[in-house]
Amino acid sequence: MPVSDGVISTLIDLKRVSEEGLVAQLTSQLRGLIVAGRVGKGRALPSSRRLAKDLGVSRNTVTYAFEQLAAEGYLAASHGRRPVVTVDGGERIEGAGAVASRARSSRPRLSPWASKLKQTDWPMSYQASLKPLRPGHGDAREFPNEIWARCLRRGAVRAARRELGPVNRTRLREALAHYLATSRGVRATTDQILILPSAQAALTLIAAVLITPGDDVWVEDPGYPGAAAAFRASGARVTGMKLDEQGMQRMPGMAAPKLIFMTPSHQHPTGRLMSLARRTEFLGSSRPGKTWIVEDDYDGEFHYDSRPVPSLQGLDAHGRVFYVGTFSKAMTSDIRLGYLVVPPALVSTLEIAQRHIGLIASSHVQEALAEFIADGHFLAHLRRVRRLYHARRDHLVEGLERHLGEVLTAEIPSGGIQLVARLKRGRADQAAVKRLVEAGVETRALSSLALGRPRDHGLLLGFAAWRENEISAALRTMASCF
Ligand SMILES: Cc1ncc(COP(=O)(O)O)c(C=O)c1O
Repeated sequence: MPVSDGVISTLIDLKRVSEEGLVAQLTSQLRGLIVAGRVGKGRALPSSRRLAKDLGVSRNTVTYAFEQLAAEGYLAASHGRRPVVTVDGGERIEGAGAVASRARSSRPRLSPWASKLKQTDWPMSYQASLKPLRPGHGDAREFPNEIWARCLRRGAVRAARRELGPVNRTRLREALAHYLATSRGVRATTDQILILPSAQAALTLIAAVLITPGDDVWVEDPGYPGAAAAFRASGARVTGMKLDEQGMQRMPGMAAPKLIFMTPSHQHPTGRLMSLARRTEFLGSSRPGKTWIVEDDYDGEFHYDSRPVPSLQGLDAHGRVFYVGTFSKAMTSDIRLGYLVVPPALVSTLEIAQRHIGLIASSHVQEALAEFIADGHFLAHLRRVRRLYHARRDHLVEGLERHLGEVLTAEIPSGGIQLVARLKRGRADQAAVKRLVEAGVETRALSSLALGRPRDHGLLLGFAAWRENEISAALRTMASCF
């Protein structure tokens, strides 16, 4: 039954707990009267002054309740006028919670980029905390945090003093140009080097600048899923190339693609080193300006059995090779710093894209790293952990042979931070990974890194991040799971 103006306040019963509580109570009770049809559509509620007086509350309490009901769609309120009911009795407007849950369940129309990225994203079976023998990591416990903290402090002060802006700080580019020339044979002027938050950022940037939907891109199979994802999302037709002992192979008869992604120093995941003959073959068949090569040297700092093979980029005399690097493995992934050496013809385009996508690293960290390198800490850290990781690789290889020689065959990489152990029998690597995770050992199934139908079955095991006693314990656990 509709009620008259004077009666509305008598139907409201407020418990005096707090001002906030009063607003909520008043909102809810007024809403109840409207929904019950006791104040019908088109009716004006009493003014805020009048209702406040009748209820013995502040005018603000009433105003806030009116505003809330107006926001929910029950009232039309305009300044200086009494609010008017806008719904019929029985009509309940969904609350914010219901709207949000409907919004979640409805399907937003995504861009082709996002849709492809979602299709291509790979399931992360990893837990939040790092467990042995998770691959892909160096040992953050060995990082000289105190020295780094001092560099960060100085970097922050220096970044503030100089008026250079945060994009591609000169001191770090100069330090990197020198380091890359002497240790990796990379030929680059400082302006060819972009400083980015990660290697993955470099791949996204290259894809954004070069890929037109439908372009062919070749990647290694099995390979690094982050690369396939970046190029697929941009609309490329990504084809996996088989590997042999010398690394990625060219398939005879296939037309040259727009771009070839490779990890020639330590193939991800197998750790194989691409032979000089194979490098020359890829370079020879890539026409300048037509086929670009992306060389991802994510962990090239770690070589144990021989002198490092110089980069592919250094062999290229025609500006066809992008060289991608990261500090995630050489230092710690918490640093979030990578870099890209860009072929001369594309430097200004890549720089524009870098600024517009916003892939800019913190000036504090860039300056800190320049300091860390200039003071010799970077090379000292590398020398130290290289020895450590070398010993850990050998420890893992020996342990695999001793504890799991019946079921797994280790491929011994000449460098890097992880290795592949192939299943001697069967293909059930994903089931094995599941069992191992439950037992507290994290690995990755080789078959999950395949692009097409998996040809390789085994486990990707990290050794760099784990002390020898941790590796031994993990191997004993693994032995009990097979
Ligand atoms: C082959 C390869 N490239 C690039 C990356 C990504 O490095 P970042 O952490 O700098 O994005 C990884 C990370 O695991 C990798 O394995």
